[in-house]
Amino acid sequence: CSMKKIIITIDGYSSCGKSTLARQLASRLDYVFIDSGAMYRAITLYFLEHKTDIKDEKAISDALDQIRLEFINNGTPGQSDIHLNGDNVEKAIRTLKVSNHVSDIAALEAVRHFAVSQQQAMGEKKGIVMDGRDIGTTVFPKAELKIFMTASIEVRTHRRYDELKAKYPDISLEEVKDNLLKRDLIDSTRKISPLRQAKDAITLDNSKLSMPQQLDIAAGWAEEILKGQ
Ligand code: DC
Repeated sequence: CSMKKIIITIDGYSSCGKSTLARQLASRLDYVFIDSGAMYRAITLYFLEHKTDIKDEKAISDALDQIRLEFINNGTPGQSDIHLNGDNVEKAIRTLKVSNHVSDIAALEAVRHFAVSQQQAMGEKKGIVMDGRDIGTTVFPKAELKIFMTASIEVRTHRRYDELKAKYPDISLEEVKDNLLKRDLIDSTRKISPLRQAKDAITLDNSKLSMPQQLDIAAGWAEEILKGQ
């Protein structure tokens, strides 16, 4: 019997390990993984490159139809890189400059509408794991499994610091922590689809869990739901 496919959403604060879990869960279930934050980062990169005044909402909303985003397989089965107008920008979107501007851009109504409609289209056939901030609340409010990830600020700061250290040897823990807290604040207080836990989302605090432990827990939840389908 062919199992029905479901939609799995993973939301939470910055650097909780959402994308890592989402990628592994998708690969275990043979589902598509979509990192929605990569879309907001690519849009931000476009505006930084074009020196668009990010306070000029009209300029931003007029320019959106110049932006083409695609997720293209990168050679590893089930893994994709984001492409902006035909260029692979998977690395270019992970800079501090993009991180420092992305929350302001992601708060704009036109930008959210642009990204959310594309995200919803990607979920039409189900069989998708998408991570972000508003996936369980706004993008897929009817998703069968919603996970809300949390981790202590210390754990998150150290994880992000370890990631950034190779690229930015001079970076300090304080600077990393400030960027995380600043993004969390903007993301959770913006007017449109702020980051918040959906009522029917299950909390996964991974402060003290290894990667395989988190994956087992999340995959267990998915299997429970699939059994009942
Ligand atoms: O997941 P990330 O840290 O790469 O996301 C970057 C930013 O994009 C995040 O600070 C807020 C925004 N974002 C959003 O507003 N909604 C989403 N669904 C995903 C990300």
